[in-house]
Amino acid sequence: MEWTRSKRYLPYNKWDAEYLLKLQAQTAASAYRPSYHIAPTSGLLNDPNGFSFFNGQWHLFYQSFPFGPVHGLKSWVHLVSTDLVHWQNLGTALKPSTQFDSHGVYSGSASVIGDKLFLMYTGNVRDSDWIRSPYQNGAWLNQNNQLTKLEKPLITQPQHTTDHFRDPQLLQKDDKYYALIGAQDAATQSGQIAVFSSTNLHDWKDLGYLNFAQKSLGYMIECPNLVFVAQQPVLIFCPQGLDPEIAAYQNIYPNMYLIGSNCNLEKGEFTPAAPLSQLDYGFDVYASQAFTAPDGQSYLISWLGLPEIEYPTDSENWAHCLTQVKQLSLENGQLYQQPVPAIRALRQQPQPLTGRTAASETILTSAPGKHYELELTFSADQTGTLYLFRDIQKKHGLKIDFSSGENASLTVDRSQAGLAFAQKYGTTRRVPLEAHQKLVLDVFVDYSVCEIFINNGQRVLSMRVFPTKDETAITLAGQAQITYNGSWWNLTKTN
Ligand code: FRU
Repeated sequence: MEWTRSKRYLPYNKWDAEYLLKLQAQTAASAYRPSYHIAPTSGLLNDPNGFSFFNGQWHLFYQSFPFGPVHGLKSWVHLVSTDLVHWQNLGTALKPSTQFDSHGVYSGSASVIGDKLFLMYTGNVRDSDWIRSPYQNGAWLNQNNQLTKLEKPLITQPQHTTDHFRDPQLLQKDDKYYALIGAQDAATQSGQIAVFSSTNLHDWKDLGYLNFAQKSLGYMIECPNLVFVAQQPVLIFCPQGLDPEIAAYQNIYPNMYLIGSNCNLEKGEFTPAAPLSQLDYGFDVYASQAFTAPDGQSYLISWLGLPEIEYPTDSENWAHCLTQVKQLSLENGQLYQQPVPAIRALRQQPQPLTGRTAASETILTSAPGKHYELELTFSADQTGTLYLFRDIQKKHGLKIDFSSGENASLTVDRSQAGLAFAQKYGTTRRVPLEAHQKLVLDVFVDYSVCEIFINNGQRVLSMRVFPTKDETAITLAGQAQITYNGSWWNLTKTN
């Protein structure tokens, strides 16, 4: 199909029901469809939205264009869960239907207010000359999961921003509501986070931009997200056009974070306590959303995909998925991301892996299945290569070079793993580690997803990989013998 503008923005009710059913069947039959990660039932998925805990359940929405693997007329699909691992898809919740969201229900957040969940999202509107007007809108979700949109927008585009003004995060603090909104400053064309406050949710006061960076962080900031991890503020955001001299990254757009020592939204201030850092060292994380739940824990989920990049499943008419949910903590001034406890319940029989490698590449297991977890511990001062998705000829595979010695680091090379894509942005990602420490890897594989947690979540690398049929084995190689200790488990499907 040729994705003309009119196709991308065709109203949902103009699409043929048979066509959608065909697309759903094609997606369900894909060899690359994840089994325990949230993936679209058809078409394209992007940002996680409205991540929250309400009415005894976890709620999550995702940006969806259900009619093809492209960015078109967006809506929110709604999912609920009782354990952050098993998700029930309740279908499309917010569709473009009013004069304030006619060209897409864009990203936003959710917050419990009284006995309802309040959703705040960007309505994308275009006129006949394709001039954009973004509106920050609201909707109520009641305890029966029924939605009612507000009739009027909450916030319209201020004079000081361009039409790049979207992705509101609604926060409640000291009896006030605050909204953080991704923005581009009109005068300087720089990326900013706009702050608004309200006492009644309907009248909003423009507090200007959040003061959190000395230097310009590019031309647009998408998906700003402030989360308090054990009371300490952490600002997560996606600066587009960031100079890599300010903070190194290779992805087309990075997802960054700042740990703060202080945050005063009323004054528009966030004081960083540490340098700007990458949230994830892999190839594909973007548009992350985190919040602190009533249990006191902070949880994070991300889009495992990037804008403007073609992925191999585009040819199957679907694209992208979400990461697993991670639990956040701060240790020694660093942000840790760990799998949530409930994911352990997916483990089937443990398959122990303990030993020393032979002189040549050692096969740890030749057929671990396509959705598994692998935990491996290497003692300090070892250097080797772990291959996932390895073929019998030992020509292909996801190459993970590690060293736990003087120049401790881990480098993932996906150039020889499965179908090639996004090569323009480099085929390797490296993460420096602390020297002379033992190295613990907790790796999650789910058909076309690979998430590597290093040293209890101190660093994480998440990525898509599209292995061919023969690329299944896990092997280990090193110039010297390597001692290893661990297990792998097939994981039960949840989708
Ligand atoms: C980020 C983003 C958001 C926008 C949404 C539209 O991926 O571009 O800024 O609200 O996607 O789908």
